[in-house]
Amino acid sequence: TPAIRPLLAGNWKMNGTASALATLEAIAAGIAHLPDVFDTLLCTPATLVHRAASAAKATRIQIGGQDCHTGQVGAHTGDVSADMLADCGARFVIVGHSERRADHAETDDLVCRKARAAIASGLTAIVCIGETGAEKAQGKTLAVVERQLLKSVPDSATPRNVVVAYEPVWAIGTGLTPTVKDVAEVHRFMRDQLSARFGSECAGMRLLYGGSVKGANAHELMGIDHVDGALVGGASLKAEDFLSIARAFP
Ligand code: G3P
Repeated sequence: TPAIRPLLAGNWKMNGTASALATLEAIAAGIAHLPDVFDTLLCTPATLVHRAASAAKATRIQIGGQDCHTGQVGAHTGDVSADMLADCGARFVIVGHSERRADHAETDDLVCRKARAAIASGLTAIVCIGETGAEKAQGKTLAVVERQLLKSVPDSATPRNVVVAYEPVWAIGTGLTPTVKDVAEVHRFMRDQLSARFGSECAGMRLLYGGSVKGANAHELMGIDHVDGALVGGASLKAEDFLSIARAFP
């Protein structure tokens, strides 16, 4: 397995107006003091991507969006395309977050087409997957992960254009996290599935864990085999919280 450079990604969700750029600057200043052995990304609301990308220039912070359309232009009122995000300075875009799967009835097929649009625009797609609490209780975690991986990750995926984020839905914003053993099992399973499908070329694809990551659990979670970074929600909104996670990297 090639050495994988970890990725610490924040997802601001529907939080942040112009004043949040001060948080970005505080995060950038803190990251500058840490060893340059991991990548740092903030996925801001679409309305902030342009200003965030400007503010992040000459820092170690990269900027991403949180969703994109399957197409690049056209009659889709209110939608934002991957080309538009790239034009604003985004380098990544999250697709298939469980909140979008739930709030907007996004299917695996739709998520896959969004990922393809992101790749076509030169962005790296962060494809989110993960089981619900009910699915976990029924022992279906690996079956759900297998289906979502197969159907949401496009055939054109490479370690450069796709990152996979495992976010158990029941762990998002709840303060609950799976056990180390459970995270290890899922991440090993994802690596095996991706290797079987894509071969050794996919060995370096980054597999993030997301769901209630905070400073107090980051070291333990990031130490698990095949966990190549984190996708952080709530704790990415305050610089000191996010930096306490960053200090657990690599
Ligand atoms: O995309 C990250 C997110 O869903 C995790 O949220 O608040 O549990 O870190 P949180």
